[in-house]
Amino acid sequence: MTLRKLIAGNWKMHGSLSVLTEIDTIAAAAKGRDVDVAICPPFTLIARATGRGVAIGAQDCHAAAKGAHTGCVSAAMLVEAGAAYCIVGHSERRADNFETDADVKAKADAVIGAGMTAILCVGETVEQRRAGQAVEVVEAQLAGSLPASRDNLAIAYEPVWAIGTGLVPSNADVAEMHAAIRAVVGPDVRILYGGSVKPSNAAELLHVANVDGALVGGASLTAADFVPIIEAVSVR
Ligand code: 13P
Repeated sequence: MTLRKLIAGNWKMHGSLSVLTEIDTIAAAAKGRDVDVAICPPFTLIARATGRGVAIGAQDCHAAAKGAHTGCVSAAMLVEAGAAYCIVGHSERRADNFETDADVKAKADAVIGAGMTAILCVGETVEQRRAGQAVEVVEAQLAGSLPASRDNLAIAYEPVWAIGTGLVPSNADVAEMHAAIRAVVGPDVRILYGGSVKPSNAAELLHVANVDGALVGGASLTAADFVPIIEAVSVR
């Protein structure tokens, strides 16, 4: 079975009101295409980014519904702002904010419980890949962080060493990892690849077996880079 592909952009801590017009250009190019497209801007831009013809997501949320958690945002708040997706467990948050697999699972449950789709990130470090442990590391991350529901869930395989470096795994390594993830999550969960996806490599990566889309960082910041990645879904 072929799942409808999802191309999601993670703006990380980039963007401002002045660049939201990029989303309008992306929406115009994506219109009518057989692909789901989402942009995940910083929290402050979510409400202003909605209603432009592209689904909007967040990059993180708190697991709790409310409470004394200064500086945090709940899943329901994101829904109210207009978010339909929320990334959880990005390696930058695991590293910068010491998020554990259990934290990520709690966040994914909160995201899905609030009616959004969770994009749950997993991926190995370069040391773990060199040691031949990449698949077992990712399997352990999944074992510890998968939410209770498989509905409204996507997995993003993002090798830490491929993020922002211009490096990408070989097609064979992507295929091996995505097959391992597929064996855990079943046939209906989309498995995205992320890490240095560019217009130049998107078509190749998107046609590796069990690659159901992409989570794009730097190349999602401008329509000039992101639109060719969306178009690459239909390149054969
Ligand atoms: P880059 O596409 O900039 O490598 O970032 C990937 C990523 O971390 C997306 O979440």
